[in-house]
Amino acid sequence: MAGAAEIRPLARDDDRGGFSCGHAELDRFFEHYAGQNQFKLHLAVTYVAVIEARIVGFATVTPASIERATVPGARLRKRLPSYPLPVLRLARLGVDTRAQGSGIGKALLRHVLGLALEQRDRLGCVGVVVDAKPEVAAFYEALGFQALAGVREGALVSEPLPMFLGIETIAAGFAP
Ligand SMILES: CC(C)(COP(=O)(O)OP(=O)(O)OC[C@H]1O[C@@H](n2cnc3c(N)ncnc32)[C@H](O)[C@@H]1OP(=O)(O)O)[C@@H](O)C(=O)NCCC(=O)NCCS
Repeated sequence: MAGAAEIRPLARDDDRGGFSCGHAELDRFFEHYAGQNQFKLHLAVTYVAVIEARIVGFATVTPASIERATVPGARLRKRLPSYPLPVLRLARLGVDTRAQGSGIGKALLRHVLGLALEQRDRLGCVGVVVDAKPEVAAFYEALGFQALAGVREGALVSEPLPMFLGIETIAAGFAP
């Protein structure tokens, strides 16, 4: 099914009603805010997965930065400077409940990783970050994401878990 999906930027006239990923806050964001954030405020860009003219999933990305101290992995941390490091943030990800479990989420995430490689080449980017819902952390871990260093101290288990995937790992996953 995922192979049949086209992934492209959200368009102004896309019908965003009727989409539901099972999380009311994410659905509300997609229906009411994704458009204005992209077309009026220029805060972020949303990519949609479309099958037979129906939106079955979305991923919202925005440039961000992280501090060196939070990068997982002592070796990588040592090589990086101590000023804010450019990353791509996966701000939101949702797949319609009717399409979940058929590879759409993974396809959207892979598209985002491809965008991070473009950002690396055009603007600079050391990796992708996401604030993972705890129940979805395993989805990101399976693709190599690791918790940002030090974030669990004092955090509640129910709080989002900031996770990171380094650009070299991303590039290796796209190697021919
Ligand atoms: C999480 C979500 C985006 C996954 O999308 P999906 O299209 O259902 O996932 P896929 O079919 O692409 O699954 C890819 C892989 O991840 C696994 N997976 C899916 N959801 C998972 C979860 N919640 N936890 C762990 N693994 C998960 C699948 O089993 C699959 O494994 P495989 O490659 O070994 O077969 C989707 O379930 C969703 O929209 N959930 C509600 C909103 C949400 O929680 N968004 C994330 C906010 S951080």
